[in-house]
Order: sequence, then C-alpha cells, then structure tokens
Amino acid sequence: MNIPFNRPSYDETEAMAVADVVRSGAIVGDGAWTQRATEELKRQLGAEHVLLTPSCTHALELAIMTLNLRGADEVIVPSFAYPSSAACVLRGGGRLVFADIRADTLSLDPGDFRRRITPKTKVVIPLNYAGITADMNELCAVAHEHAITVIEDAAQGMASFYHGRPAGTIGDIGNLSFHETKNYSTGEGGAFITNDPDIAARAEIIREKGTNRGDFVRGLTDKYVWITPGSSLLPPDTMGALLLSQLAKRKWIQATRKRIYEDYVHTLTPLAERGELTLPTIPPGSESNHHIFHVLMRDAEACDRAIVFFQERGISVTRHYQPLHLSPMGLGMGYQPGALPVTESLYNRLLRLPIYPTLTQAEQEHVIHTMLLFFDPAEARQ
Ligand SMILES: Cc1ncc(COP(=O)(O)O)c(C=O)c1O
Repeated sequence: MNIPFNRPSYDETEAMAVADVVRSGAIVGDGAWTQRATEELKRQLGAEHVLLTPSCTHALELAIMTLNLRGADEVIVPSFAYPSSAACVLRGGGRLVFADIRADTLSLDPGDFRRRITPKTKVVIPLNYAGITADMNELCAVAHEHAITVIEDAAQGMASFYHGRPAGTIGDIGNLSFHETKNYSTGEGGAFITNDPDIAARAEIIREKGTNRGDFVRGLTDKYVWITPGSSLLPPDTMGALLLSQLAKRKWIQATRKRIYEDYVHTLTPLAERGELTLPTIPPGSESNHHIFHVLMRDAEACDRAIVFFQERGISVTRHYQPLHLSPMGLGMGYQPGALPVTESLYNRLLRLPIYPTLTQAEQEHVIHTMLLFFDPAEARQ
C-alpha cells in the first residue's frame, strides 16, 4: 500500500469547471468565475473585502505593500512559520523580528510578542497553525494598544473559527492559501481579506499594477492611469472556477477531515498516556478545520526513526517548518541557536500524518497500525 502525504480532492466537477472557463475564451483575471468565487468566499467568511491572488505568498506581499513600511519599521513574525510569512516583510521594506511560540498550539506566544515590541514595531504577523487560530484576542489587544497592524496569516485556516469568527477575518488584514496541500485547493492560489475600506482601496490599486483599473472597470473613469508602485497580483479566471467547485464541497471536506482527525486522536491516546508522544491541542474557543494532524515525538531521533519506519511501509509522513531564525537567511541576519527556546525544542520532534478527505479507512488503519508497531512491535501484532 502506498499512502501519499497529500491528495487533493478534485473530481469531474473541477475538470468541467476549468473546461467551461477555457471554452468561454476568457481566462483573464477578475473574470466572471473570479467574481463569483470572490462573492462566495465573502459570504462564507462574512468579510467585507476579498481579493483573490495567485498564492497566499502574494496575498502576504500585497498586505505588507498596503502598509507603506520604511526601512527601520519592525515586523514581528513567529520563527515557526513558512518562509513567505517572513519574506513579505523584506519585500515590503521592513525589518524582521522573530518571536517564539506557545508550546501547546505552536502559534505566536503573546508574552514573547509583547516583550519584543519597540517604538519601531509597526506590524505583527501571527499565524494559524494546523487550523488553530493564534490567541487573537490577546494579540490584537496588545497590538492595538501600541498602534501595531495585525496581519493574520491564515494560509492554513480556511473553515476554522476563533470564538465564532472565521480565521482570516480577525486581524486588520488576513490571508488564505489555496495551495494544492490545503483544505480547499486550486493548485496555487490565495486570498487577501480585510474589513477596512482604506486598506481595501489601496490593495485594489496595488494588485492592478498600481493603477485605478478597478474604477475603470466599474465605469467610474474613461481610462486608467498609474497611481502608485504596484504589481500584477490577479490569478487567471480558472482559479475562480476551481475555488467555486472546492468551496461547494465544504461540508464533505470538513466532515471527513474531522472524522479522520478524531480517529487518530482516539487510537493514539494510549501512546500519549504512556508518554511516547504528545497529541495536538485544540484550545477552548477554537474550532479547528483539521488541516493538519501532527504529534510531537519524545525527541528528534525518535522522529527521524519514525519517518524512515513509515517510509519503509509505503507511508509518507513529514516534519514541518524549519525555524526561520535558524535558516541561512535567519543566521545571515545575526540570529543564533538558543534565541527562541520553545521553537527550537519542538520543531524537530513534530511529525505530520496523512489527513485528507480521500484517505480511505483501510489507508488510515495502515497508518495507525504502523504507528502502534513503531512503539510496540509485540502489541501491534496481536
Ligand atoms: C503559514 C503559511 N503562510 C504562507 C504560506 C504560503 O502559501 P502559498 O503556498 O499559497 O503561497 C504557507 C504555505 O503553506 C503557510 O503555511
């Protein structure tokens, strides 16, 4: 049996949706499908302004560009994050400051965030890890006390909630990813979200090459002109078609992921009780979208051995983020090992198991059996 780490949930619906766009002869950005998908996303998120982008990386860059950072402006980002969560800061002309995470949710530690604030801090980028939103009430309260803008990196967060609010809509700006590995996939794709009309107006211009083409399309001007520095951040209309098809599957996607996640928790609890591994935490007030199922092994060596053990049995399991402050870029910025102790103690013990709607029961049983076998060869044989 060969079990991949990820398998996107495409079927004939997506194939027909893309064929429809191609047959229409108009694949250009912000066409009919992009508009419909944007409206559907706004409805599902309850958000005022949504702009689809070619990726979440682009949505993060767009977010930073709307804030007009200057060279000395500091942006606080957890080191346990994807490179795009930090690279956007450098693209936007700011200075990166890495912070540590909470040991249970692996998201930005509000205490460490507060400690790293200086008069130059302008932005913080907390991220939603595995479908669990960071402590946004506390983070936003501290941020707004210091006039700091919150960009909520909810790349993994579509369909998760924080005290009833959809991930991506809680910060001043939010971002989602529709990359192939995410709950809702368009291959590559992302979204920029805000409820702030001024930020939305700036973002619309930057996304359209720095022009007022949006006003031109709405018939408010007879020609469009260059206004600010900008970029081209529109996806082709095929992304809108794919996204609409994926969003229509929300009930099935969420229900199957939840079932698989709960089966893992149920069957691995005895190992957790014996102290062999730590199961993920969903704190009160958080509703997970079950994007990732991960465990923390006792140490890095056990994690390495488990990866090989699973591989030998045809199962693809993976670690996750390498701390950004220990990456070649981070070390080049002067960071040293030991700077962020919680991040450093956890990252190389983290192991992610396959979780996606088309993972069959037999496949999941094989994954679980393999985990039991890894810890207790005699037990698992019975
Ligand atoms: C937290 C976070 N931010 C941003 C991204 C980048 O998303 P994309 O691949 O859509 O650019 C990822 C990718 O997984 C991510 O995990």
